[in-house]
Amino acid sequence: MARTNKKLMLVVAAVAVGLLLAGGADVASAACGRRRVHLRLYMHDVIGGPNRTAIRLIWGVGPPHESMPGRTFGDTVAIDDLVTDGPGIVGHGDTRPIGRAQGTYMLTSKHEEVIVVSITVVLTAGPYNGSTIVVAGRDRIYDELRELAVVGGTGELRGASGYVLWTTAKLWSDVHMVLELDVHASVPLPDDDDEDSSSDE
Ligand SMILES: *[C@@H]1O[C@H](CO)[C@@H](O)[C@H](O)[C@H]1NC(C)=O
Ligand SMILES: *[C@@H]1O[C@H](CO)[C@@H](O)[C@H](O)[C@H]1NC(C)=O
Repeated sequence: MARTNKKLMLVVAAVAVGLLLAGGADVASAACGRRRVHLRLYMHDVIGGPNRTAIRLIWGVGPPHESMPGRTFGDTVAIDDLVTDGPGIVGHGDTRPIGRAQGTYMLTSKHEEVIVVSITVVLTAGPYNGSTIVVAGRDRIYDELRELAVVGGTGELRGASGYVLWTTAKLWSDVHMVLELDVHASVPLPDDDDEDSSSDE
């Protein structure tokens, strides 16, 4: 009973703060119990050569694509791409590895240049070392700016949701492309009343 009242008062207070500060988006979102996460990641898609990180799973099985010669509807690639903190190449300059992007993309139209992406990025450095973020969505590959969804996460990024501004940042060669993932997400703030912490009482 006391706990319910406390919860209710917190909700009322949060709504009041939200109303007072409408327009102050950062504070309003904190009042809703979420913390913002902004990450800028660079994904190195290497589709050929000895260090390739992308392999063709399904290729040339479906009907020919109308404007992409040699491609067919349904072509699917599996990736284990290096993720870095800049668009450069590790070992040249100050670009550092910070994770891997693992998953697939599939050519999902016979006439549009559209792939559908499904990847999990595991971070291996920094404050989110060991956490993952799950990204899915539609990528019209010749658009300058694409928007995909952050559909989840684990570890410090558990419960993440938001969006990714997805651009082609650099073409190092005809087999090495760098994509920039500008991740705008939020994660739930730790809840005092949740089951994980109740054992401490
Ligand atoms: C492949 O990776 C090795 C080790 O990192 C590197 O020395 C070599 O230059 C790379 N080869 C190509 C073609 O990028
Ligand atoms: C990331 O975490 C792993 C496992 O805890 C650890 O071995 C590694 O040194 C960490 N990496 C960095 C760059 O902090």
